Amino acid sequence: MMLARASADSRNYVWNSRASVTTIAASDFPAVRPGWLNPEITLVTKMKIAASILTLSIACAFLASPAAAQGDAERGAKLAYTCQGCHGIEGYRNAYPSYRVPKLGGQKAAYLVAALQGYRDGTREHPTMQAQAASMSDEDMQDLAAYFSGIANDTVAAGGSDTEGIEAAQTCIACHGQNGIAVSPTWPTLAGQHQDYLEHALNQYRDGTRKNPVMAQMAAPLSDADVAVLVRYYARLKGLETTVVE
Ligand code: HEC
Ligand code: HEC
Repeated sequence: MMLARASADSRNYVWNSRASVTTIAASDFPAVRPGWLNPEITLVTKMKIAASILTLSIACAFLASPAAAQGDAERGAKLAYTCQGCHGIEGYRNAYPSYRVPKLGGQKAAYLVAALQGYRDGTREHPTMQAQAASMSDEDMQDLAAYFSGIANDTVAAGGSDTEGIEAAQTCIACHGQNGIAVSPTWPTLAGQHQDYLEHALNQYRDGTRKNPVMAQMAAPLSDADVAVLVRYYARLKGLETTVVE
């Protein structure tokens, strides 16, 4: 019933789908507990994880079907001039703590809108981004998202060759995709993102600075070593790009 309403109001869809994801994650992920990255994980546990992922993948495919709100990419490209001073420079760093600013080229549209809304409503913390988002209308956000998400990216079919990473990422693929490209526009693509930014993001979910019920649950059981393996894996896959407006 949520999805019926979604097609009438695509902005509702973003919120409804996020709400449904929370429900799914809470009820269908009994297998995701501390130690799930342990290589000695039992076959039964693996099967439980596989079953949860299958259920989730079906839910994801269903959620992914209605189109996200359509922004105006041309207007977005103009608005994006302000953003390029940081996001348009390859390897540009946030001063403190030091990590590279995230790549936005090819990122999922509904996720970009959700991220900007997060800075505006305070569920995501970053002084500059909060200042940027404070003055943006929802339409500005949709247009910026249409521009950045419309940038084509190279992808691999699945996995790559980092077997340790592939193993560690089994619990993540239901949402972030077999190849690190998210399966719904609501969730971020991780493939090709800067390694130190991914690490910063996961640590913020782990310590509660960045508030998202789904990722809080996914990140809580991860050790520093798990995070290191996962971020190396995703950063090396083909995907997101730094974009410069000509
Ligand atoms: C002064 C540098 C700077 C400018 C200018 C800037 N950003 Fe950012 N942006 C950052 C940093 C640093 C982060 C990571 C913040 C964090 O840790 O949450 C970020 C994060 C983001 C994210 C979240 C990405 C993700 O993967 O979650 C989005 C979306 C974004 N910026 C969009 C924009 C847009 C759109 C503009 C222009 C209107 C803009 N930014 C201007 C530095 C900047
Ligand atoms: C049930 C779906 C789901 C699963 C499974 C999942 N994630 Fe996420 N992930 C999300 C959502 C939703 C967000 C965006 C949350 C937000 O708005 O902050 C996200 C955000 C992220 C981000 C931040 C990306 C950015 O651009 O800032 C990282 C990093 C991440 N996830 C890594 C992982 C890893 C590693 C795993 C596996 C251990 C995982 N996720 C499993 C749904 C999921």
